[in-house]
Amino acid sequence: MMSSPSQTQSFIPAMTAIAREAGALLLEYFHQGLKIEYKGDADLVTAADRASEVLIRERVAKQFPSHDVLGEEQGLNDRGNEYRWYVDPLDGTTNFAHGFPVFCVSLAIERRIADSQKRVAAVVYDPTRDELFCAEPGKGAQLNGKAIHVSKIGQLKESLLATGFPSHKRHKNPNIFFYHQITLRTHGVRRAGSAALDLCDVACGRYDGFWEFNLNPWDTAAGVLIVEEAGGKVSGFDGSPFQLNSRETLASNGLLHDALVHEFQEIFAGRGLDPLPDPREYRR
Ligand code: IPD
Ligand code: CA
Ligand code: CA
Repeated sequence: MMSSPSQTQSFIPAMTAIAREAGALLLEYFHQGLKIEYKGDADLVTAADRASEVLIRERVAKQFPSHDVLGEEQGLNDRGNEYRWYVDPLDGTTNFAHGFPVFCVSLAIERRIADSQKRVAAVVYDPTRDELFCAEPGKGAQLNGKAIHVSKIGQLKESLLATGFPSHKRHKNPNIFFYHQITLRTHGVRRAGSAALDLCDVACGRYDGFWEFNLNPWDTAAGVLIVEEAGGKVSGFDGSPFQLNSRETLASNGLLHDALVHEFQEIFAGRGLDPLPDPREYRR
């Protein structure tokens, strides 16, 4: 049994081992092909999501028995411990279920003392590419042991961005309008299907920014720390400080942040919108 590390020790080695083990389990399921089940109208879950979370919880319980865990599939066991894990056992379930190889395991640990909460360690593991991202406050971010940094793109019109769309209540989500407008102002907007990996791809400079409505704490807790430690910025859509429970995530390399906040303000206000083309014109 391991006790909680003191200030000078790190959770990263233990988290890395757990994420790699869960990632290997996901890959086994991935190569077998899986039955898809539904949590909601279009919200998928597979046996792999559940098995990965069981494995992660078992490892945490053995090594850090007093720690609390909030996991997507089993919820929160809150015993009021100072440390809380945020676990997405499989981020990118829709990709996974369709055989599209973009998914990961996302783990973050938060230290909660009185009213203050601070994320103290983050690990995101992509088993398909064997890429392990990690970060700790003040120590920078790494990909497979090497320091990573956000990009240096300073102009929106030269940027590559990413976004995501929720699996459920998609009809209530305004993101299609933002996708359309921001696509026209940039080199493009990708939608790869794993928010945690999207954030890591901002951290290592593959993307210059990312936004999504209505993400959950297990989607963002690790990736946000990794972006910040790689020199980037994460906020709400109006530039206000990012909150784990808020439904707005806007991440960037920092240089583009004000420009993105401005675009969001304009689009929310309905100003300067490029109209959608009329598909009937293409029938001729
Ligand atoms: C989903 C992915 C996706 C995002 C959805 C999330 P899940 O997580 O991160 O990229 O667009 O909003 O729900 O369900 O695969 O863990
Ligand atoms: Ca997720
Ligand atoms: Ca998930």
